[in-house]
Amino acid sequence: MTARVRKAVFPVAGLGTRFLPATKVMPKEMLTVVDRPLIQHVVEEARDAGIEEFIFVTGHSKSVIEEHFKENPELEQVLTARGKKAELAELARYQLPKGSVHSVIQEEPLGLGHAVWCARELIGNEPFALLLPDVLVQTQGKNCLAQMLDIYAAHGGNIIAVYPVPKDQVQSYGVVALGERDEDVSRIVSLVEKPKPEAAPSNLAILGRYILQPEILAFLLSRETGAGGEIQITDAMLALLKEQPFYAVQCDGRVFDCGSKAGFLAANIAYALERPELRDTVIAEIEKLT
Ligand code: UTP
Repeated sequence: MTARVRKAVFPVAGLGTRFLPATKVMPKEMLTVVDRPLIQHVVEEARDAGIEEFIFVTGHSKSVIEEHFKENPELEQVLTARGKKAELAELARYQLPKGSVHSVIQEEPLGLGHAVWCARELIGNEPFALLLPDVLVQTQGKNCLAQMLDIYAAHGGNIIAVYPVPKDQVQSYGVVALGERDEDVSRIVSLVEKPKPEAAPSNLAILGRYILQPEILAFLLSRETGAGGEIQITDAMLALLKEQPFYAVQCDGRVFDCGSKAGFLAANIAYALERPELRDTVIAEIEKLT
């Protein structure tokens, strides 16, 4: 029996330098795709997949992210007085249950591995999901994390979502080396952070959704820096790989790397096109431009 995954960690303490000046004051995770901040898309994915506890690793001046998930009685009063039922329903729709949101501060953005380590006490001794808010996966049916949880229920271990990227772009990602197939998933035999194309073991990039066993936390303790001088989660996963199985899952869906400008803009178009009230207008506007 595998232990149920109840908790999800959302690291939101990065500097978002690729989006300056937009992110000088506003966190990257609050940039909107259509009408919802990136972080809301990802939190909704976790909630819809059955996650019960939401752990934010925040930086200084990121309190706006926590505020976004809190009730706002003044706004609700005004909306009620003005009869704005649809807007009230939309706010209520993404409201997380009271007591389910926790946060911890990462004093300095020392890397993703360090961000997860900062959440160690809130994670405790149970498996957890880790979702990077700057990656969106647009799916038709079950969302990406829900698909991963199905695989986890069948196989246990650690699960990493991957997706194919052009070989000449692998040095922007963590890349997996695959071993034998185990029914519907492949075992991961190694991971390389930002490899040169000629040294990359595959073109399957780690996309930013993980299910990890709590033993990973012990390997983050050493706090050694890896590629880019940051404390990478990849290094800890490599150490845990020697002791526990890791499986790669290619989620059924379209991946948007919203940490890059092109990916973020493409996500806005794709998510607008799936909204019936926007679709025709957006297509007409794009046609005017092309
Ligand atoms: P990124 O590396 O994509 O975000 O980290 P960044 O560093 O903010 O962006 P750039 O490269 O400077 O533009 C992926 C996620 O991990 C968080 C980020 O906030 C982002 O959501 N993160 C990253 C942390 O929480 N702490 C860190 O030390 C690093």
